[in-house]
Amino acid sequence: MSGIYIHVPFCKRRCGYCNFYSSTRLSLKNDYLAAIGRELQMRANYLNGEPVQTIYFGGGTPSLLQPTEIQTIIDTIRQLHQVSDTPEITVEANPDDLTPDYISQLVQTDVNRLSIGIQSFDDDYLQLMNRRHNAQQAIDAVKLSQKNGLDNISIDLIYGLPGSTCKYWKRQLDTAASLNIQHLSAYHLSYEEGTAFAQKLHQHKIAEVSEDESLAQFNALTDWAQATGFEHYEISNFARPGFRSRHNSCYWDRTIYLGIGPAAHSYNLLARSWNTSDIAAYIKNVNEGKSFSESETLTPSDIFNDYVITALRTSAGIDMDYLQREQPKQMVDYLQRQAESFVRAGQLEYSANHLKLTHNGIFVSDEIMERLIVG
Ligand SMILES: C[S@@+](CC[C@H](N)C(=O)[O-])C[C@H]1O[C@@H](n2cnc3c(N)ncnc32)[C@H](O)[C@@H]1O
Ligand code: SF4
Repeated sequence: MSGIYIHVPFCKRRCGYCNFYSSTRLSLKNDYLAAIGRELQMRANYLNGEPVQTIYFGGGTPSLLQPTEIQTIIDTIRQLHQVSDTPEITVEANPDDLTPDYISQLVQTDVNRLSIGIQSFDDDYLQLMNRRHNAQQAIDAVKLSQKNGLDNISIDLIYGLPGSTCKYWKRQLDTAASLNIQHLSAYHLSYEEGTAFAQKLHQHKIAEVSEDESLAQFNALTDWAQATGFEHYEISNFARPGFRSRHNSCYWDRTIYLGIGPAAHSYNLLARSWNTSDIAAYIKNVNEGKSFSESETLTPSDIFNDYVITALRTSAGIDMDYLQREQPKQMVDYLQRQAESFVRAGQLEYSANHLKLTHNGIFVSDEIMERLIVG
């Protein structure tokens, strides 16, 4: 099984917190579409004939592509690969792109899952984040998509926003629950260098929430998930039973994936590669048959570390049987020794021969991962 990721590197304007690669040069859209068609052809053998189970249009802002343009890309993929009979095909969308006209065209395509970047249902916070939409547009976008038959909808929300309180965050979660969505990605705000938020933080125009506040909001999130029947299956991801993101699971289950477009990453068990994060250079080099990516062969430690980091993020945790069967003994022994103090501190636990983060461990997961990986 395999997955295909298409990076759509356009945004109408940049949000204050975001450092994902995108450009506001929408005039490059047609050249970009031609170039990704070419890249799909050039790299058709990358997946070694493995059937494609998931296709994911991520951004940037994939909903800046017309539904017909999205379908053309899916058709090209179908010509080049064997796509499974029941693929998951997701498009990330910004709420204000989801107009009645857009949605009615989108449901004519093979897309069967929407991931809507809502971030907040509060107009003041949406403004602070420099989002294009308001709270009502976000609610309308979800309802209209559902009315048109889209029944696998995920939304993104951000918590830990400057000045936010638990009361504010619970209100966001209650609104999300009232919308009858199938999946929630809830990310704690991170201040990324080069963003407007990081700049405002350095200038003391905004302040980080305290650790206690962060923890309280995280606890409110997991309580909410339990009360509403959402499975907390990865640090930032929650799903109704049967609606976990199969695309995300690719990354966690060591499934091979092909990433197409500027800044997209690919992985084939032996090496990972990443395309240039420069849309103009990407288009030019694809057209001229020149290199547009870099790659590195994975060492045994890379493979071990990638597995540990990704598995630890999931509710299943690290499969110790798999480690003992397939990974170098000295690395597994090292991990078990390093895990001991976290197990004693109640931050890691063994269950059915899986090593997992406990509720308390999730909050210090970065530090734990740092200590478990091999040098
Ligand atoms: C790359 S964005 C693409 C989604 C789409 N363009 C949108 O804005 O709705 C994917 C998600 O990452 C999250 N995200 C991006 N930067 C973040 C940050 N610095 N801290 C927390 N979440 C972030 C947001 O929730 C966003 O919806
Ligand atoms: S959050 Fe989405 S719309 Fe905003 S800058 Fe990032 S990719 Fe673009």
